Amino acid sequence: MNKRMKSARYVSNFESIFKCPICSSSMKVSELTSLICSRNHTFDFTKQGYINLTAHPVKTKYSKELFEARRKVIVEDGFFKPLSQTITDTINKHTIGKETITLIDMGCGEGSHLDQISDALRSDHLKRVMGVGIDLSKEGVLVAAKHYSEKIWAVADLANPPFKDKQFDVILNILSPSNYEEFERLSKADCLVVKVVPQSGYLKEVREVIFDEPEKQSYSNAETVERFYRNFQLVERSRVCYTVELDNPAIQTLVHMTPLSWATSEEQMNTFLQMESAKITVDLEILVGKK
Ligand SMILES: C[S@@+](CC[C@H](N)C(=O)[O-])C[C@H]1O[C@@H](n2cnc3c(N)ncnc32)[C@H](O)[C@@H]1O
Ligand SMILES: [Zn+2]
Repeated sequence: MNKRMKSARYVSNFESIFKCPICSSSMKVSELTSLICSRNHTFDFTKQGYINLTAHPVKTKYSKELFEARRKVIVEDGFFKPLSQTITDTINKHTIGKETITLIDMGCGEGSHLDQISDALRSDHLKRVMGVGIDLSKEGVLVAAKHYSEKIWAVADLANPPFKDKQFDVILNILSPSNYEEFERLSKADCLVVKVVPQSGYLKEVREVIFDEPEKQSYSNAETVERFYRNFQLVERSRVCYTVELDNPAIQTLVHMTPLSWATSEEQMNTFLQMESAKITVDLEILVGKK
């Protein structure tokens, strides 16, 4: 059985969670090749095992190579390890008594957060986990599907997620845009919404080198946090702050995967890109809310 068929078979266990992104009707896996709605809108599984459920094709900024490289920084350099450990423990703490957790990562990128968190929930806390990752970037989802199986990977818009109401116990939203109306629609009654936002020290070494103006060297997330508070009851708020030593290839990846790099010239960035190694600060806030 090839990867396309294996994924289709896996998704068929959970086909009832889907709704068609075009007409909102129910969907079924057909002949281990496609997901088809009751009005015959058809979405094929790709050979890497993901499904593209966007109503219209979308071109996004990152390439497949950059997602592969980002995956390396996350998996091999453990760039977000303390973050995913904290998120795993938080989810476990707030889902005591639930043996099975349905988890969706909104804006999953190359999928490593979802993979690490769902695997740790399985191995450390003996939960059964159904994990879904969606991202608008086909390149990100392709890398996720290539490396991580036993999860549902879909190219989809988090502003029009192709799932029925009240399907999820946990919604992850890590360094990605949000659509709180849709997050609420997808939430079961006691669903946890876990949003990760950067804090003032996040990648400060990168900012300090590439920005001359001090006001661009740090930033505030007060507005994002305010908006979260307006939409959810706050269950918990925690900050994870640590440094990671990166070698040159990892620095290159990091700089190019960071929106900061779009605001500056190649010349300003070169100073940083030529460093042999660097200590980089990861400073993030985890907001946990309920409906
Ligand atoms: C900074 S990346 C973070 C990716 C991943 N969560 C991580 O932390 O590595 C932001 C992601 O949001 C995705 N994104 C932006 N708008 C989106 C939308 N409307 N629907 C789904 N994904 C979106 C981008 O494609 C990108 O992968
Ligand atoms: Zn349809």
